Amino acid sequence: MINLNNIEIRKTNQDDFDNIMIVEKQAFGYDKEAKLVAELLADRTAKPIVSLLAFCEDEAIGHILFTRAYFDNQKVQPMMHLLAPLAIKAEYQRQGIGGMLIRAGIEILQEKGSNLVFVLGHKEYYPKYGFIPNAAMLGYPAPYPIPEEFSDCWMVQPISPTGFEAGKGKIKCSEELNKPEHWRNDESDR
Ligand SMILES: CC(C)(COP(=O)(O)OP(=O)(O)OC[C@H]1O[C@@H](n2cnc3c(N)ncnc32)[C@H](O)[C@@H]1OP(=O)(O)O)[C@@H](O)C(=O)NCCC(=O)NCCS
Repeated sequence: MINLNNIEIRKTNQDDFDNIMIVEKQAFGYDKEAKLVAELLADRTAKPIVSLLAFCEDEAIGHILFTRAYFDNQKVQPMMHLLAPLAIKAEYQRQGIGGMLIRAGIEILQEKGSNLVFVLGHKEYYPKYGFIPNAAMLGYPAPYPIPEEFSDCWMVQPISPTGFEAGKGKIKCSEELNKPEHWRNDESDR
């Protein structure tokens, strides 16, 4: 086990691009998420983003990205975000680094005034870090329909004092992330 006191988390800059790609490819074992991150970093509708790398000594071992989320077809747009992707290099998984990145990211989002964070992911994992399963039931349908057996995987977490009072409605992502291919569970995309 690594000592979490030796993990440094910081915001990324342009010089970190190669390290981000390495972490994403290694964690997922294919290129799809790395390509998505590259596209999101260049997507103006994703801003303000929060992009963080975790380092163990000088090695980049984990990356997290939060991009802007919107209400579909609404005039008033409180600041909201979507967490995608989260990636920890295989040999560093299940040691708490993902949790550290989620907490650090949410703290920065709170400083920016973001109200709600959404994620589509493992329903056993994200509730450990405050996410509430089945966001659609709480009034936040996903950008594309989620099959019923996965409805708990679409989750939300209020992070501001206003929380859920910020509004309700169907969620739309940044332009890149709102493409339907990111919402299909299709192995052939990899
Ligand atoms: C999923 C992932 C981001 C989790 O990060 P991590 O640093 O390994 O997770 P943590 O150490 O913070 O996990 C803490 C807890 O979650 C559990 N956990 C970790 N990964 C899990 C998973 N895939 N499913 C369910 N539980 C999981 C751990 O067992 C641990 O539980 P415990 O505290 O009760 O022992 C990481 O394993 C990863 O990068 N996986 C490959 C890419 C991926 O699937 N990304 C997520 C896309 S939604």
